[in-house]
Amino acid sequence: MKTFLLKTFGCQMNKDDSERITGLLRLEGYSPCEDESVADLFIYNTCCVRESADRRFYGQAAALKQLKEERPALLIAVGGCLAQMDGDIVLKKLPHVDIVFGTHNVGELPNLIKEVENERQSRCEIKTSSSDFTGDLPAERKSRWHAWLPIMVGCDNFCTYCIVPAVRGREKSRPKEILINACRALVDDGVEEITLLGQNVNSYGRDLYGETKFAELLTEVASVKGLKRVRFTTSHPKDLEEKIIDIVASEKSICSHFHLPLQSGSDSILKLMGRRYSAASYLRLLERIRSKVDDVSITTDIIVGFPNETEEDFLATLDVVKTAKFDQAFTFKYSARPGTAAAHFENKISDEVVKDRFDRLLEAQNLNSYESNKRMLGKIVRVFIEGMSKKNVHPLAARTDSNKLVHLDGGRDLIGKTVDVRINEAFTWFLIGERKGAK
Ligand code: 5AD
Ligand code: SF4
Repeated sequence: MKTFLLKTFGCQMNKDDSERITGLLRLEGYSPCEDESVADLFIYNTCCVRESADRRFYGQAAALKQLKEERPALLIAVGGCLAQMDGDIVLKKLPHVDIVFGTHNVGELPNLIKEVENERQSRCEIKTSSSDFTGDLPAERKSRWHAWLPIMVGCDNFCTYCIVPAVRGREKSRPKEILINACRALVDDGVEEITLLGQNVNSYGRDLYGETKFAELLTEVASVKGLKRVRFTTSHPKDLEEKIIDIVASEKSICSHFHLPLQSGSDSILKLMGRRYSAASYLRLLERIRSKVDDVSITTDIIVGFPNETEEDFLATLDVVKTAKFDQAFTFKYSARPGTAAAHFENKISDEVVKDRFDRLLEAQNLNSYESNKRMLGKIVRVFIEGMSKKNVHPLAARTDSNKLVHLDGGRDLIGKTVDVRINEAFTWFLIGERKGAK
């Protein structure tokens, strides 16, 4: 039997695409493998949101040259956003690569593999758009209990720093009935938790129905029988409607968690980024969410060092971070992406200043994360046990509905169970809990 080794970079959308690639290859008789020295096929599912991801991929893939010389039958395929963006540049930079396939070409991968096996000629297939959704392809999930469900692809926002609209195209929603049927099928297959995915889930349906239907979709998904937890990401702060907050507050199966990228706390930088909200309106949104949704957790993304960012702008971001008290923040150094508007902006910020601001931001947020975890002390919370962790003395790794990581004692037999735990210890990145009885 032939084996493939799949490396996934980047966001949840790529993780889902990788589960589809695995599903497709399984149908072709391939099986997944982790061992570089025996795999017949290497597949990279790449990301191009920041330059660091590009560099990591090109570095890793360049190192395969020798392996390919030793084992000429080895096939190397490169997909994902960087493949979509760079196209045949990938083949110029890495002549030992056999297949480059774009984000709209995932379904063609099995045929491309066969063609390259027969013809021994490298191929680059990149569609700029497609009426098919990768989400319709068969998936082999990593988890028995959790499934990703892409509800739309692409993005119409064109934030000035972001390459996503250029590589993933315009917003395209999948029909609601198809998604609800997919949820039912997943539950029948043993799935308990579904994460609805989109670059901007709050505009779900606009392209298809002329108005956004995210509220309806969320309500219908939440009422799918047997589905225990529903998550969704990402919400653009300018598009999060009041009714979504109300639905999250009232539907028990929807996890009380919002991922709301702030990007910057300075109004002038937000304007340059094309985000279309202000720091004050963002903070008001958080207040509304917190007043309505009990024990809600709010996570965010922040970029430091955007062109023209002054110390004052950065201090405004720090201020918002301190006021917002995010449960978690993903922080990034600005990376200029060719093909975006901001790549042409003047007044770039020096590496030293960016590093200094990045460290200060991290320090402020680490304190928030620690304090947010400390607020959990003594509480009894429902967690879902996801697996065993190698690193912690309390070996079970579980998630609260608000997506916090909890370690607790217990055996493998508890994996996949929902239990109540009492939180005994709090750290910056995780909590320690004690089981109160399985349900
Ligand atoms: N530079 C740095 N961070 C970026 N992000 C998107 N584009 C860039 C860029 N050019 C970050 C944003 C986004 C997250 C997924 O990645 O914060 O929310
Ligand atoms: Fe990129 Fe902005 Fe779209 Fe998010 S909303 S994918 S940051 S353009």
